[in-house]
Amino acid sequence: MNTDTPITWPSADFSRVPFAIYHDRALYELEQERVFKGPVWNYLGLEAELPKPGDFITTRVGDVPVLVNRSQKGVIHAFINRCMHRGAELRRETCGNAVLHTCVYHQWNYTLEGNLRGVPFANGVNGVGGLPPDFKKSDIKLHELKIAIYKGVIFGSFDESAEPLHDYLGAAVRGEIDRLFSKPIRVLGYQRQRIGGNWKLYNDNVRDPNHGGLLHMFHATFGLYRLSQVGGARMDERHRHNISYNSLGSDDAKAQADGYSGMAKVFQPDYQLKDMRMLSNRQEFPDKVTLVILSIFPNCVIQQIANSLCTRQIRSHGVDEMELYWTYFGYEDDDKSMTEHRIRQSNLVGPGGYISMEDGEAVEIVHRATLRQLDKHARVEIGGTGEIKDSPGLVTEVPIRGFYSYYHELMGFEPASSDARA
Ligand code: FES
Ligand SMILES: [Fe+2]
Repeated sequence: MNTDTPITWPSADFSRVPFAIYHDRALYELEQERVFKGPVWNYLGLEAELPKPGDFITTRVGDVPVLVNRSQKGVIHAFINRCMHRGAELRRETCGNAVLHTCVYHQWNYTLEGNLRGVPFANGVNGVGGLPPDFKKSDIKLHELKIAIYKGVIFGSFDESAEPLHDYLGAAVRGEIDRLFSKPIRVLGYQRQRIGGNWKLYNDNVRDPNHGGLLHMFHATFGLYRLSQVGGARMDERHRHNISYNSLGSDDAKAQADGYSGMAKVFQPDYQLKDMRMLSNRQEFPDKVTLVILSIFPNCVIQQIANSLCTRQIRSHGVDEMELYWTYFGYEDDDKSMTEHRIRQSNLVGPGGYISMEDGEAVEIVHRATLRQLDKHARVEIGGTGEIKDSPGLVTEVPIRGFYSYYHELMGFEPASSDARA
């Protein structure tokens, strides 16, 4: 593989992750082809964002701008958001409603099916200039992605050979989507966040149940998530996706006392909030699970933290920068008080969220400290080494090994050797 620095995986069970993968520019270019344009399904958005014909959103697959719209016939299409004339970004808004997409540069315009419809001054002026006689408008279409929708969640793929979305997600992930999208949703709002680190570091973060009760003081102190609670992590058969979950209030008192003793910076049992409604969970699912972080390879997280529901899209912006795009939602049948509660709890996450503010920082401090350590690697052993399999409990990071086992295969790395673990 043509990378800037030689990259070797020192351990066949992916319990060592080479730091070079977060910094290698040539590898980043290959990832755009082999991961984001490879045989995967990328999260694009939610059907609820496009209720009416003509509705559109702009989104991204890796670093490729993508435009998603609903046609007059009601069909959802996704295109590369690039004008077929000289390549300008066609839609610059984040969302809207339109009959046509008109490029700002020279006003070429396209139908919602992606067909070129109009070119200004096509015949020039008084027969001078304009398009050549062999120009055929009907030959020009926006580059369309294959799309598939599961329970209103829209995914797109550049690769015709991608397996059906149903199989790609697998039963466990479908089950979680079924749970969170069991009835019509309503989008409540958005946040966007730039993080100075490689996009895979965020995938690591969301597949790391262990950090949730250690990095996040708010979680541990107020009990939304503690390592001493009932929970775990479950992967799909290929280990590329992961579901981390736990139940608020299920603490094992002894485990809590033993585990958090002496960790005053993490766990402050005497802290109170002036408005404790921030912490309340209004039971709305037919189970005791109060937190779910569902990570879908390669760019999607779907979250339930108490009553805060959202999707998080991971967008790469070069090897050393990423964007998180947060879409908050509730259900169409929520009453006013529930909508207010969800909006209140939306402050738990996002760029300044009481919990997830630290995740952006975690990505950045790893990115920074590993920049000149390209021959070194991360240790990923918590929860066990060897075979990648679900492990009960929250003190695990096995799903990170799962992510890299699939990433490694997709990228076509040489098989990892198992003799150089240090
Ligand atoms: S680049 Fe779009 S019309 Fe020219
Ligand atoms: Fe986190």
